[in-house]
Amino acid sequence: MSTELSRFDHVRAVRFDDPVLLLLDQRRLPAEQVDLRCTNVAEVAQAITDLVVRGAPAIGITAAYGAAMAAQQRSGSGADFFSAWDADLSMLAAARPTAVNLAWAIDRVRRACAGLSVEDVVRVARQTADDIAREDLAANYAMAEMGAKLIAPSSGVLTHCNTGSLATGGLGTALGVVRAGVAAGSIDRVFAAETRPWLQGARLTLWELMQDGIAVDLVADGGGAWLMSQGKVQWVIVGADRVCANGDVANKIGTLAHACAARQFGAKFMVVAPWSTVDMDTASGDLIEIEQRDAAELLAYGESRAAPANASAYNPVFDVTPAELVDVLVTERGLIHAPDAAKIALLAG
Ligand code: MRU
Repeated sequence: MSTELSRFDHVRAVRFDDPVLLLLDQRRLPAEQVDLRCTNVAEVAQAITDLVVRGAPAIGITAAYGAAMAAQQRSGSGADFFSAWDADLSMLAAARPTAVNLAWAIDRVRRACAGLSVEDVVRVARQTADDIAREDLAANYAMAEMGAKLIAPSSGVLTHCNTGSLATGGLGTALGVVRAGVAAGSIDRVFAAETRPWLQGARLTLWELMQDGIAVDLVADGGGAWLMSQGKVQWVIVGADRVCANGDVANKIGTLAHACAARQFGAKFMVVAPWSTVDMDTASGDLIEIEQRDAAELLAYGESRAAPANASAYNPVFDVTPAELVDVLVTERGLIHAPDAAKIALLAG
């Protein structure tokens, strides 16, 4: 792993301190840096639903450790271990619908443990969770180096949501590329969109980059198009919650607007996602379940009310960018320029 990049990689969102899962509580950042201690699988699932931990790879890692914790706790329970553990896995998988990493991680643990004795399930589930975390980190370093090579000197970049160490096993996906581009000297200016309503950009991306000493300007979500029209952004760089077999990309609401603006004003649009985010079983974006969250998240701005009392709101928290708006998809398996079903199938092997 590049030592140049590892100086930007010091935050861990998920830590398994056997038998407790420690989650850096992202609801409370940047004001407070505190861990939520999860001691059973129901607490882990609830923490995912409540966005204590968020970001597609990070929730996959969390769910894998939740599965390992559940196996350990159920192992003393006798004959009904397998049905009880299966219910635990289903509970974890249902915690959030859109990011495929969650279902992928549960499925990987399930497959690794198929046909094993209870004792071996406990061991292999833990080993698999460790592998998922380690592989995600390694993928991020590989993607960061590959993505950054595409960025010409003196570029401005815009990123959306939080795709850094908080959202992954470490370093980040899109934010890993931003970090590598800054380290290589090719990125002159970084803009982070605030990412209403939960403010992942304002609260989390700025918190990460400022600790690194990387200069970043916060912009309103609706400001991206204007910056691009003014030539201030050469690359929009985002992560993904699910990349479909045809290259359509589900990501945080607002991503699609940046992609449309990029195409209109000649900026390039890069999606950075580990292979665990690629869902070959979902043919296209219209088949993805888009999570709807409580209207209350949108009707407030932090602690303050943002709309009149009794106002209603519609709060889908992801959108789908069609593949034709994606200039390049960066995965640890390699780059795909202008991704489509045939090119993705080739990389899938
Ligand atoms: O609702 P969130 O905060 O979990 O949404 C996260 C995103 O949309 C990220 O862009 C995506 O998961 C990629 S993170 C590496």
